[in-house]
Amino acid sequence: MLCLLKFTPLFLVVAVCHGWLFGDLFEKQKELDEISLWPLPQKYQSSAVAFKLSAASFQIVHAKQSTAGPSCSLLENAFRRYFEYMFGELKRQEKSRKKAFDSDLSELQVWITSADPECDGYPSLRTDESYSLSVDETSAVLKAANVWGALRGLETFSQLVYEDDYGVRNINKTDISDFPRFAHRGILLDSSRHFLPLKVILANLEAMAMNKFNVFHWHIVDDPSFPFMSRTFPELSQKGAYHPFTHVYTPSDVKMVIEFARMRGIRVVAEFDTPGHTQSWGNGIKDLLTPCYSGSSPSGSFGPVNPILNSSYEFMAQLFKEISTVFPDAYIHLGGDEVDFSCWKSNPDIQKFMNQQGFGTDYSKLESFYIQRLLDIVAATKKGYMVWQEVFDNGVKLKDDTVVEVWKGNDMKEELQNVTGAGFTTILSAPWYLDYISYGQDWQRYYKVEPLDFTGQFLQSNSF
Ligand SMILES: *[C@@H]1O[C@H](CO)[C@@H](O)[C@H](O)[C@H]1NC(C)=O
Ligand SMILES: *[C@@H]1O[C@H](CO)[C@@H](O)[C@H](O)[C@H]1NC(C)=O
Ligand SMILES: *[C@@H]1O[C@H](CO)[C@@H](O)[C@H](O)[C@H]1NC(C)=O
Repeated sequence: MLCLLKFTPLFLVVAVCHGWLFGDLFEKQKELDEISLWPLPQKYQSSAVAFKLSAASFQIVHAKQSTAGPSCSLLENAFRRYFEYMFGELKRQEKSRKKAFDSDLSELQVWITSADPECDGYPSLRTDESYSLSVDETSAVLKAANVWGALRGLETFSQLVYEDDYGVRNINKTDISDFPRFAHRGILLDSSRHFLPLKVILANLEAMAMNKFNVFHWHIVDDPSFPFMSRTFPELSQKGAYHPFTHVYTPSDVKMVIEFARMRGIRVVAEFDTPGHTQSWGNGIKDLLTPCYSGSSPSGSFGPVNPILNSSYEFMAQLFKEISTVFPDAYIHLGGDEVDFSCWKSNPDIQKFMNQQGFGTDYSKLESFYIQRLLDIVAATKKGYMVWQEVFDNGVKLKDDTVVEVWKGNDMKEELQNVTGAGFTTILSAPWYLDYISYGQDWQRYYKVEPLDFTGQFLQSNSF
């Protein structure tokens, strides 16, 4: 299967080429008469001069001039990983053969140029992921400012390798210089509606790296279940997970996901969505959710987080203090989407509060009241926040560095115009809801979306 390669943006959808990702790369490669790179680099020049690579003698090494060396475990790990991708079982076969042939190309030198290679750091929204790669006689050189660009270049190098008719790995003379078009290239996984075992999450991160995606948006909790194990409030997962032991993410699980992602240049942005989408939170925390009324008495069911109790905010302050230390990324996603007002409307205490505050019957004002206080709580942890578009639509006062995520398909272009026009950074997810099942070759539809196709000034679409 071939994924279409004509477009340059790195902002692509992972689902379109699952077969290519998980299938045997070299089997598929045989069917192609040209080397396929995914996504296609910004500048790419190849020639028909082919070099042979022998698993027995080829090496990935630190360039002499590089500011990173063998103590950079992130790169050492990546060198091993990519060598395995490229040679895998062949290495063992060749070893068992009596005479290994000589490589035309003996090494790939990885040259990190900036004073701080960022070996122990985390990628961020401002990370420079650019790299250049030159494959020529005797050696290949991959040059990048830091480890993050090097990871992207190693991926590209591995995709250039193909198998010839004799089962030998080859790579052509090539010159590439590349950088992503968008700073945020994310995949959202929802581990609340369906609990995702750790190995599924790790496999997704692996697939993301192969497609140069760099943000794992972990929609970790929601109405159906609360699998995140909190040290401050263990009852949240004890009572809110599908199962308190088998269907939870322990602190060490979460650490593992974050480190596995870091090794691949992927940020982990956790989403703790409130005040809606919180049914599972109510199982463990008494009085957190609003009691709904049927007529003049409580109906026994619960709605969004109760925005009129101080205890709700005290709880959020403690929870987000923990979350801000567990997840190293500079951003936390606070949700804020799809708040259902019917329960708030039914509750007499809420009605009284609405009157006191002068909100009339405009429940979006109550929602904003809640979100505003939550934002202040999270800002105090020194984290930035991402929110779904409703928070912006309702006129909540947002910090300048807030990222607004546009997810509704209706009026998408106008929303992008409004959000960026107000000076906010935006993430667009509306066109790529892969859970909408359709048949046939629907990937083309996802592929053809142009995120910047909305009215705005140059700066509105190019601030990152
Ligand atoms: C790579 O080299 C081979 C052998 O000369 C040639 O057939 C092929 O077209 C080249 N591929 C690219 C993408 O340049
Ligand atoms: C809630 O907090 C506010 C401000 O901190 C305070 O004025 C108010 O008395 C508190 N309400 C209750 C019921 O404790
Ligand atoms: C964009 O802003 C205009 C002007 O405030 C408003 O009328 C319009 O409804 C907004 N569009 C969307 C999709 O929210």
